[in-house]
Amino acid sequence: MSDPEFNKITPEIYKALKNIVGDKYIFTEKFDLEPYSHDETEDLVFYPEVAVLPASTKDISEIMSLCHENNIPVTTRGGGTGLSGGALPVYGGVILSTERLNRIIEIDTENLMAVVEPGVITHNLHQAAEEKGLFYPVDPASKESCTIGGNIAECAGGPRALKYGVTKDYVYGLTCVLPDGRVFKTGGKLLKNVSGYNLAQLIVGSEGTLCIATEIILKLLPLPTHKRTLLAPFDSLQDAAEALTQIFMKKIIPSAAEFIEQAAIKAAEDKYEKKFPHSDAVALLLFEVDGDREDVLDEQAEKIGEICVEYGAEDVFVADNPEKQEEMWQMRRNIGEAVKSIAIYKEEDTVVPRARLPELVEKISAISKKHGILTISYGHAGDGNIHCNIIKKDISDEDWNEKLPKVIEELFREVVILGGSISGEHGIGWVQKNYLPIALSKVELELMKKIKEVFDPKGILNPGKLLPDL
Ligand code: LAC
Ligand code: ZN
Repeated sequence: MSDPEFNKITPEIYKALKNIVGDKYIFTEKFDLEPYSHDETEDLVFYPEVAVLPASTKDISEIMSLCHENNIPVTTRGGGTGLSGGALPVYGGVILSTERLNRIIEIDTENLMAVVEPGVITHNLHQAAEEKGLFYPVDPASKESCTIGGNIAECAGGPRALKYGVTKDYVYGLTCVLPDGRVFKTGGKLLKNVSGYNLAQLIVGSEGTLCIATEIILKLLPLPTHKRTLLAPFDSLQDAAEALTQIFMKKIIPSAAEFIEQAAIKAAEDKYEKKFPHSDAVALLLFEVDGDREDVLDEQAEKIGEICVEYGAEDVFVADNPEKQEEMWQMRRNIGEAVKSIAIYKEEDTVVPRARLPELVEKISAISKKHGILTISYGHAGDGNIHCNIIKKDISDEDWNEKLPKVIEELFREVVILGGSISGEHGIGWVQKNYLPIALSKVELELMKKIKEVFDPKGILNPGKLLPDL
């Protein structure tokens, strides 16, 4: 597929955009555009021509009809924490930032639903729900800066996905603006709803390529009152992965079961100058169980501890107060940043059926050995979702450029053989799109292309993302 042909923003179009959002909310200077030129994906930088900050569905509808008429590409942006380049304006044009659409419109304590705008920071929704004894469980590591709109675009997960599911499991209704400016509502505060295709679920995870969600209805749960956090150190990756499988076989579903390789925790210790318990272990499993009955939680924590010891953990560390628990989770959330700061890297987001995790761990180390390239892994082991970072350290540019695509392709092929896929929660975006045919069939890709054309026949919304070039 050749590059799409878009138009540049003329002084007339700029003026029309300014009339929609107001003087204060449109930027064109390089200095002002810099924050909108990158996300958290490697070192990629693409400048938009213009950044606009609309304040309403109506503003967004007007921006889209203008851009549609003039064939200008538009890329929607939330918190800019994406890890697959989903919010990068790769063809320039307009960045449409949702930062001013940041209202929590309603926490509905009767229906246990929240109604929010897309620019709401995920953690702010956590707090607003908690104030009413309610719970929005989706907790990406970037929860303090990512937004609900971005979470919807990428179908964000996080540690608690293990027990509570990912973003799609909470989205019940959406108001959206189509690329041509038309507005539609789909779904509602309805736990049951079989009235036509489930458009809301199609839009979740569509990486901002189909439409722009401007109002979102999310399910909430009652807030669990207690939790226990445990850390088990292992001297082999395999033992850690086997112990985890056993825990599920005993029918315990922790609210989180995270896997951290030694090099990952060491990177966080170095970067944040903080010690973490048992950081000399080859691999760590970090567990949380939550619920309302302390006796049940104690029993579950004890069982998890016993299984870990049986499978080789020397000792199990229990974080017994909220401060210690938060400290451990803070450190866990910082790992991504820390691993990235070691050297040039490429992060993959592999996912396999949970019980095949021991095999995935084995494959990653075999590929790493075969190519003489360092990998550092951590992630949501309970979901079979491992963030495998391929690190450039100590190899020449030439070697890196030659080996990296081979390593990625080999890794993805192995993941697919294990019944898995190439992204669990970071999305395909810009950086994985040409690997998608490894994971999806021709028929699936064909359907996806057609869906894109139905929503966005001119291809102006987040062009260059998700679908492979060929
Ligand atoms: C995490 C992000 C990288 O799990 O998904 O830390
Ligand atoms: Zn993650």
